[in-house]
Amino acid sequence: MSVRRLAEEQFQPAGFSFNPENATWAEATIRKYPAGRQQSAVIPLLMRAQEQEGWVTKAAIEYVAEKLEMPYIRVLEVATFYTQFQLKPVGTRAHIQVCGTTPCMLRGAEDLIHVCKSKIHPEPFERNAEGTLSWEEVECQGACVNAPMVMIFKDAYEDLTPTQLEHIIDRFAAGKGADIKPGPQVDRIFSAPVGGPTTLTDEIQPIRFNDMAAPEPEEVSVPPANAAKPVTDAPETDKKLKTPATAKKAAAENVKQKGDSADTARPVEKEAAPAPASVMDEKNRPAGIDRPETPDDLKMISGVGPKIEATLNGLGIYKFEQIAKWKKAEREWVDTYLKFSGRIERDDWVKQAKALAKGGEAEYIKVFGKKPR
Ligand code: FES
Repeated sequence: MSVRRLAEEQFQPAGFSFNPENATWAEATIRKYPAGRQQSAVIPLLMRAQEQEGWVTKAAIEYVAEKLEMPYIRVLEVATFYTQFQLKPVGTRAHIQVCGTTPCMLRGAEDLIHVCKSKIHPEPFERNAEGTLSWEEVECQGACVNAPMVMIFKDAYEDLTPTQLEHIIDRFAAGKGADIKPGPQVDRIFSAPVGGPTTLTDEIQPIRFNDMAAPEPEEVSVPPANAAKPVTDAPETDKKLKTPATAKKAAAENVKQKGDSADTARPVEKEAAPAPASVMDEKNRPAGIDRPETPDDLKMISGVGPKIEATLNGLGIYKFEQIAKWKKAEREWVDTYLKFSGRIERDDWVKQAKALAKGGEAEYIKVFGKKPR
């Protein structure tokens, strides 16, 4: 990156002013900004001055500063900061800015600079013999994906080889630069992969909201304080899975048994074993009653929520006293019917129902030391 200074006095013209067309444009541009914020027009005005003169002269900087009521130094700072502004005369047909930052350098920017040196001038900012072409090295122009690249005035020419740059320079030298289409000079659209898209090529089906099934709320079981310790229903083999190694082995065996593929290997969830026919024998089904005028609030039993209560009501179970009388076979029948895996025993519904049937909440508190749900 070179030091950016104004051109020597010998190159500087005596004065500057916008031509009538640009003067009108400048007034309209300044009016776009709110009162007191006209200084925001400094870059557009400097750029228009460069387009009119071919480069940004000292007189143009002073002219823009006066027009925007800015100190000269502020406009000079802007003009010397941005490499888009040329501070000395450049080629009248093309000033080629070669990006020399790392991505472009790794992709062959040095070769492009050699082309500029051989076809234009060995030194940057020096014009060719005809005064039509010049070049310089600049920092990243924001087109790194398409490195290496050059800017020529407002257009970027990307994915260049030395041969392509030679061709571009020749066309500009001949005054036919407009023949070259800016952008990538290879088979790609903007910064898409060369040769076309390589990902996200499938047509995507939109997910409709109604397709997303909401998970059913799970009823939480809170065992009574003195309820028996929950008994796990995991088989003995599962209980022995103490180490990752044994767990892995068992998972692999599960997968093998199911004839599953290796990439779906994971511990297989235990499916509820089908209930023995004797458990679900109709004779074990608890007797139901018609809906009474005042059904009990079965949700007071820990482990019964609205959904389970509705299911029990469907079986004709409405009263605490019904549940309080369930024998083992009946408890097993309901437990299996609800797919509870022993929850009725663990939560001791019968004991809870007995207390509630006998004395309601007060009796429940007496027996369990806490309020029912
Ligand atoms: S490094 Fe060259 S455009 Fe970014």
